[in-house]
Parts: sequence; structure tokens; C-alpha cells
Amino acid sequence: MSERRVHTDDITLIRPDDWHLHLRDGDALAAVVGASAAQFRRAIVMPNLRPPVTTVALAAAYRERILAALPAGSAFEPLMTLYQTDNTSAQQIRDAKASGIVHAVKLYPAGATTNSDAGVSDIRKARAALESMQREDLPLLVHGEVTDPAVDLFDRERVFIDQVMIPLRRDFPDLRVVFEHITTREAAQYVRDAEPGIGATITAHHLLYNRNAIFSGGLRPHWYCLPVLKRETHRSALVGAATSGNPRFFLGTDSAPHAQRLKEHASACAGCYTALHAIELYATAFELAGAIDRLEGFASVHGPAFYGLLPNTTRVRLRRERWEIPASLPFPGDAIVPLAAGETLEWRLAS
Ligand code: DOR
Ligand code: ZN
Repeated sequence: MSERRVHTDDITLIRPDDWHLHLRDGDALAAVVGASAAQFRRAIVMPNLRPPVTTVALAAAYRERILAALPAGSAFEPLMTLYQTDNTSAQQIRDAKASGIVHAVKLYPAGATTNSDAGVSDIRKARAALESMQREDLPLLVHGEVTDPAVDLFDRERVFIDQVMIPLRRDFPDLRVVFEHITTREAAQYVRDAEPGIGATITAHHLLYNRNAIFSGGLRPHWYCLPVLKRETHRSALVGAATSGNPRFFLGTDSAPHAQRLKEHASACAGCYTALHAIELYATAFELAGAIDRLEGFASVHGPAFYGLLPNTTRVRLRRERWEIPASLPFPGDAIVPLAAGETLEWRLAS
């Protein structure tokens, strides 16, 4: 696909895209969007604002706010999504497809994560919208965790596969689905072996860390996200999937900024902020797996192919250079702590 150059100390890649990103809104958007724009050409932008982005009109207005917040001259392109509720209609899906700016619909099981209260309370209530997505070929992006409090938090993704994902794909075999931010061996195997029309995003933090990271040396809220980090067998299965070369697996940071005081809190918000150093974190994970030559496919080629888009035409360069992840970054009224703040990275994106 490209004249990929692989050296120990210097890599060039087709400019990557982020297929799962939280940009927030207002001052927070202004504080974070430049970091993503410095790394990625495009991003699938999550719709879990307050109120959620449930209509094309809201998505169009949000898109304009993102474009207005970009640094001058940036070529970053936000790819918008709609937030599915119990009331999302077939007409709203047709409107979304016709808009040209909405690239997918996000399904949050109600209560699964940040700002998901308005999500789908029962998949049976979503049938008309799902049928329309299947007909219009508009991908469905799934937060794949059951919300039943009786199910152990660490098992909620695995249980979701059997209770929701398999029946959903049986009922809508032509609906294209992204299993977002997979965290388990079961999800990686499911996506690998399932019928065509499925993809999965994998975050850098789920490739680099297992659940020990949340508890080592004290409770560390900056490693708390949803779906939560899992045990080592799962991390290692995710690395296997991401570095396999299988086009079903692609980059999605799930970078999810929260103010420092809300992360370092008695009930810490879920989300890891990785927009600042995403490609460097992925490069670290791929190099540790001895598979840096597979990074370009995962980061820059498989995602566009799933979404029916061409890969980017520009390139980025990563150089081996030690640099320290800042302790904190500006955020309105507060600060934001990037993942692994204060630690040293071996790779750096050349500007
Ligand atoms: O950790 C997470 N944070 N997981 C999600 O699904 C949502 C996200 C957020 O919006 O903060
Ligand atoms: Zn997310």
C-alpha cells in the first residue's frame, strides 16, 4: 500500500486517524482539539455531550464548533456520530445518512458509562433504527458492556457478546458494527471469527496496561476508564489482535478528558486522556510486541477501509527520542493529567 520505511529509530506512516475520540465541548473542546489535530487527520467524534448529539442538526452544529476551535490552518476533519436513544427513528437515520457529515451511530447501553443515561434501555426498542442503519449502510458503534449490576464489572464485556452482540448480528446480518474499545480476549476472538461486517477499535491504554496499573502504589484514577482495564491474559490477547495485521482491528484512542479534580475525586470519572501522545503510546505497544511494522495498517489503513474512506495522502514521522509526558496540561478552570504523566516515552511524533 505504501513505501513503508522501517528503521529502528525512524518510522514514517500514512497519517493516522482516530476512530474513537471524545472532544467534549466549549472551553474543554478548545483545550483538547489541537492535540488530536496534531496527531490525526480525521477522528470519529463521540456524541456523549450533555445534552447528547441525537440529531443531524445537533451534529452539524457540534461539527462547526469543532472546526471553529481548531488551530489556524489545521486540516483535521471531524467525522460526526449520532447518539442513539430509545426514540431514534428510521427517519433520523435516513437524515443522518443523507447529511454526508454523520458517519455512524453510537449505541450506549443506558447507564454503561459517562453521559450514557439517555442511551438505549433495551435493544428491542432500537429495532426500527437498526433496520434503517442496516438498509442505509450506516455503521453502528457499540459500547459493548451489559449494565446489569448483578454482573461483575470485569465480566460485562464478555457477557455482552453472548447476550447482545451475537443476537444483534443474527437479527441484522448486513449491519456493519464496530465493537468499540475492546478489552477482553473473548471480544478479540469474537471479532476475529465473526461473520463479515464487523470491526473493533483498541485503545493504546488497553494495549499497554493491565488492571494492576489501577492499583499499583495506591489507587490511580488516571488509569480508570470504561470498559475497565482487564487482567494480563486479556491485554496480551489485544496486543495479538492489534499486531496481527487483521484489518478488522484499528486504532481508536477513546481519549476522554476530564478535569483533574474530577479524576482525583472520591468517585473518579472514567476516562484516560491520551490525545497528546496517542501515536507514541501505540508505537510503544507495537514495538514491545516486536511488530512496529504492523503499526501503519492498524493506525492508518484498516480504519478508513472499514468506513469506506481512502487512507490519508500525507505522512507523519516518528523518531526515537526520549521525552517526558507532562505532569499536567491546561484545562478550563483546572488542569488535565495525561495518561502516564511524568513517565518517559521513547518515540516522538516529529512536528
Ligand atoms: O472511560 C470512558 N470515558 N469510557 C467511556 O465509554 C466514556 C468516556 C467518557 O466520555 O469520559
Ligand atoms: Zn469512548
